[in-house]
Amino acid sequence: MSGNRVSGGYLIRDAVLDDAPVIAEIHERGWRQAYGHFITPEALAEKSAGKRIAYWQERIADPAATVLVGCDPSITDASAIQGMIYGGPVLPHDITAGSLDGFESELYILHCRQSAQGKGLGRLLTAALARRFQAAGAKSLVLWAFRDNAFRGFYDRLGGRVVAEGWDEGQADVAYGWDDLKSLIAVCEGATNTANRADTA
Ligand SMILES: CC(C)(COP(=O)(O)OP(=O)(O)OC[C@H]1O[C@@H](n2cnc3c(N)ncnc32)[C@H](O)[C@@H]1OP(=O)(O)O)[C@@H](O)C(=O)NCCC(=O)NCCS
Repeated sequence: MSGNRVSGGYLIRDAVLDDAPVIAEIHERGWRQAYGHFITPEALAEKSAGKRIAYWQERIADPAATVLVGCDPSITDASAIQGMIYGGPVLPHDITAGSLDGFESELYILHCRQSAQGKGLGRLLTAALARRFQAAGAKSLVLWAFRDNAFRGFYDRLGGRVVAEGWDEGQADVAYGWDDLKSLIAVCEGATNTANRADTA
């Protein structure tokens, strides 16, 4: 675990167990916003915040996983959380084309509150997670995004290339890969004022 970082107007820190309800709420809202028009009501219901608090508590407590939150530094309780990111080792996936061979870390979930979108928080959270993986010795990163997700443009913007296609939750999805975490961090932090960085997590 590393320390906190204040950058780009947000405090980026490790999630703690008390954050689980707010993370679950942001997760559910992200699903509704990004996938609500093509995912089944049953799949959406499975992501309801009330059902997912224990899910997030388990992941926050898992030493193999990293869950980070981006907070409004002027707020001191869990309502400060504006976005979350979760990652860890590369997980098995139903792959129909391409390959994840050689990839050493995975971004599993990333969501920002709608009111915080387009302000650089997604970049900051991605950079912070990539720095954690880099510090643990990983050199590359992969993630899966639903093929029909309109927010895929974010990963294109960060220089990801589609390396595989697959299937998840009854939906076609695509894997974006970055061979070099250094270049991902550079593109994420390129538009961020790092002058007020508190540490190099
Ligand atoms: C996708 C998401 C995490 C991006 O975070 P964000 O804080 O809104 O994005 P940022 O402000 O850091 O944007 C970084 C860059 O990506 C671009 N970008 C962001 N969303 C984009 C989109 N949907 N399409 C194209 N480009 C996009 C921004 O324009 C910006 O580029 P710029 O610096 O050249 O202007 C966030 O919008 C979100 O949570 N969306 C809803 C849930 C979701 O889709 N999660 C991801 C599931 S795979």
